[in-house]
Order: sequence, then C-alpha cells, then structure tokens
Amino acid sequence: MPGYPYEFMTCVDETAGGNFISLGCCGTHVRRLCSRLCVRSTGPRNRLTRTSSMTKITYRDDRDLPFDSLVALYRANAWSSAEKGAALREAMRGSHSVITAWAQDQLVGLGNTLSDGHLVVYYPHLLVHPDFRRLGIGAEILRRLRSRYEELHMHILVADGRAIEFFEKCGFMRAGETQAMWIYSGGEH
Ligand SMILES: CC(C)(COP(=O)(O)OP(=O)(O)OC[C@H]1O[C@@H](n2cnc3c(N)ncnc32)[C@H](O)[C@@H]1OP(=O)(O)O)[C@@H](O)C(=O)NCCC(=O)NCCS
Repeated sequence: MPGYPYEFMTCVDETAGGNFISLGCCGTHVRRLCSRLCVRSTGPRNRLTRTSSMTKITYRDDRDLPFDSLVALYRANAWSSAEKGAALREAMRGSHSVITAWAQDQLVGLGNTLSDGHLVVYYPHLLVHPDFRRLGIGAEILRRLRSRYEELHMHILVADGRAIEFFEKCGFMRAGETQAMWIYSGGEH
C-alpha cells in the first residue's frame, strides 16, 4: 500500500498506576493526559445491529486455522503473508490470542495479539475481507481481543494510514512523539 504512512498507536488503560507510561523500546515517555488518553467505554455505533441484517457472522477464538481459509483472506487483502501460508498458519498458532469472523464457512476477518500477559499487548494483524467491510466486524474483533487484556496498561499497534480513523473510533490514539520503526521484508506497505 504505497504512499500511506503508518502511525504508532496506543490504547492506555486508565486504571493502570503511575503518572507516566513508557512507549516502545526507545524509552520515549509520554505524560498521561487524562482527557486525551481515556479509552472510550463505547465503541463504534450499532455494529452488531448492522451486521445482523446481513449474512450472519460468527466469531471464534481458536488459533488452529485452516490453511486455505487463511491464505484466501490474506490474498483478498493483498497482504504478502499470503505467499507464506505455512508460516502464517504457525504465526496464528503461536499468537497469544486470535479472534476470527466467519460468514458460514468463509473466513472474513481476523485479528491476533502478542503479549507478555502482564503489561503490554501488541496487535500485529487485523484484517477484514473487502466484501465484508463497514459491517462492524473489525471493531467487534478488536473489542473481543481488547477485553482479554483490560488489566494491561499498554495496548499498542502500527496503524496503516488508511485505518487510523477506524482505530481512533475503537479507542486508540496517536502515540505521542513516537514513530513506528521496523525491519520488514514484505512489499505492500
Ligand atoms: C481497517 C479494517 C480492519 C476495518 O474493518 P471494518 O470491519 O471494515 O470496520 P468496522 O465496520 O468495524 O468499522 C468500525 C467503525 O470504523 C469506521 N471505519 C472503518 N474503516 C474505516 C476507514 N478505513 N476509515 C475511516 N473509518 C473507518 C466505520 O465506518 C465504523 O464507524 P461508525 O461505527 O462510526 O460507523 C478493514 O478496513 C481492513 O481490513 N482494512 C485492510 C487491512 C488494514 O488496513 N488493517 C489494519 C492494519 S494496521
């Protein structure tokens, strides 16, 4: 997706102690400004209502996913991981959590997490099949993932430039003065 910048975004649990949080491996510190860092208690509106008038969507939390379904979803999004199907499948097996959305037997959405289980959770992948977007599926996957980590003080992700507004609606915000950095062999960003 050339030409679209990435933003480093965090979602901070306001119940966590301390006046400062540490962001990223570079040790940048950002003052916790209460009004700006509050995680919204409500997500995007009417997501389940909108979905229920369409094809019924079911959500699963198993990490052992069918190879063909995984590759088809990533291919539909033109993500390079589709060309590494075996690694992609193992990546899901090795994730801390995975939530998938299904329209009958078609995999139409997926989100996963990596976490130390105590302080930080990172959201590496969130994608919805192009034919099923704007139905509330992405927000519902993120809501289900987030609910597993309510006690953690940092929720963090690298947002595609076109998805920033989506993540803001889901309670994330730009991560202060930080800049996303990576070593990446994919070609789509
Ligand atoms: C970003 C993505 C996961 C959103 O999934 P989705 O199921 O279409 O999103 P939802 O329907 O749950 O949208 C929730 C809210 O965000 C809004 N929204 C969704 N995508 C948006 C976008 N690209 N720009 C602005 N707002 C967006 C919706 O309108 C909705 O708002 P509302 O409730 O106020 O009407 C999906 O577009 C996608 O897979 N994109 C390609 C992969 C990608 O960029 N993933 C993020 C990687 S960093």
